[in-house]
Amino acid sequence: MHAWSAAIALALALGTAVRAAVLPAAPAPIVVGYYTTWYKNQTAGVDLSKYTHVNIAFASPTTQSGLELLDDISMSDAVSEIHAANAKAIISVGGWTNSGNFSDIVKSDATRATFVKNIAAFLDQYGLDGVDIDWEYPGNPGDTCNVVDKANDTPNLLKLLRELRAALDGAGKCGGARKLITMAVALAPFRVNGEPSKDVSEFARVADYIHLMAYDVNGLWSETTGPNAPLFFEDGKGAASSLAAGIDAWTAAGWPAHKITAGVPFYGRALTATANMLLEPNNQYQNHTAVLPQGDVEDLPATDVCAGTTGVSGQWMYKYLRSEGVLKGPTEAAAPWVRTWDDTTKTPWLFNPQTNTFITYDDAQSIKAKVDYAASKGLAGIMVWALYNDYQNELLDVLHTWGAPTSS
Ligand SMILES: *[C@@H]1O[C@H](CO)[C@@H](O)[C@H](O)[C@H]1NC(C)=O
Ligand SMILES: *[C@@H]1O[C@H](CO)[C@@H](O)[C@H](O)[C@H]1NC(C)=O
Ligand SMILES: *[C@@H]1O[C@H](CO)[C@@H](O)[C@H](O)[C@H]1NC(C)=O
Repeated sequence: MHAWSAAIALALALGTAVRAAVLPAAPAPIVVGYYTTWYKNQTAGVDLSKYTHVNIAFASPTTQSGLELLDDISMSDAVSEIHAANAKAIISVGGWTNSGNFSDIVKSDATRATFVKNIAAFLDQYGLDGVDIDWEYPGNPGDTCNVVDKANDTPNLLKLLRELRAALDGAGKCGGARKLITMAVALAPFRVNGEPSKDVSEFARVADYIHLMAYDVNGLWSETTGPNAPLFFEDGKGAASSLAAGIDAWTAAGWPAHKITAGVPFYGRALTATANMLLEPNNQYQNHTAVLPQGDVEDLPATDVCAGTTGVSGQWMYKYLRSEGVLKGPTEAAAPWVRTWDDTTKTPWLFNPQTNTFITYDDAQSIKAKVDYAASKGLAGIMVWALYNDYQNELLDVLHTWGAPTSS
């Protein structure tokens, strides 16, 4: 008998009371970090060896079914640095602003074949370990001007994944270790005619992991302030969406838990409230203005290609909450900021009563809650948006407490 099954049989025989003592420890998690090429000095101070996979973001799918790097970086240098840290280097294709060409590419056999050939050649050229498809979103517009085919995007994506798998596994192609195919996904399974798919098991046969983008849940687009990345949502408050709900939705549709990572944000989002939120300190859901406040020092006005508007995002990388005097410790606000812990959604929020600025964000406490939850659900590990946003590896280190007892 295999050691594993012997241990399980023994645990079952002895009953649940001793199960924890007898079962083998949970496998070490994978830790996937997005490498955002538009920031210089991307990995300064980042302990890359604590990531198992680094997703270089982004290459943009072109109208010619090719790949175009978003920024002027040296791919060879990036891949060498990632490999030197013993992590896998993956090219992430798409992203919020670069998903507009996917629908047309996957539509026909000929354009899919060209796309697959170009991806395989790109992996070969740079010695990459895999590809991460970050289509936001099949059958559902992300950025408002994206081409979307509500009936066919999702079935066409499955064709693409099967053809990609066949090409990457094919003899003589992309020599060396098996190449990974992963996807960054929304909290609801891929949509068909507006509805989340009820069965995604065929996708899971050809893809290695999905990374659940369990953030951007509430923001400027929401009626009230609310958590950017709730572990659980509060009924009737904010979006009815959360990391836990996302895990439930994908596993109910047949995606195996051990091929899912829980996405966590190393950033937060600011809004301006219309009143002093601390008058209702247990209410994270209050009215806000329609104008985004400036976020951190790197939050520069940018143009939305679809809307044609220019403005700041209100985003705060965790490192700047720490270094720009909003937080004075990992879970401690610097006056006049006040930190509140929301125990329903397991998220902290910050409020400045002088400016009525609200910031929803993640810290060591909220990320520990997500790590413990992901481990308890048998997930593969954690995904991070984005590795550049951390402060002295403070949040990254929390990911490595996977399987360790919670101190609460
Ligand atoms: C990059 O980061 C390192 C370490 O924080 C710092 O010493 C260096 O000045 C930075 N370089 C640039 C160009 O920002
Ligand atoms: C589509 O591809 C063209 C180049 O062929 C590129 O200019 C355009 O930005 C792409 N669109 C998106 C949304 O990525
Ligand atoms: C919040 O905004 C809504 C919609 O504008 C309004 O009906 C409500 O009275 C406001 N609540 C408070 C506490 O100001």
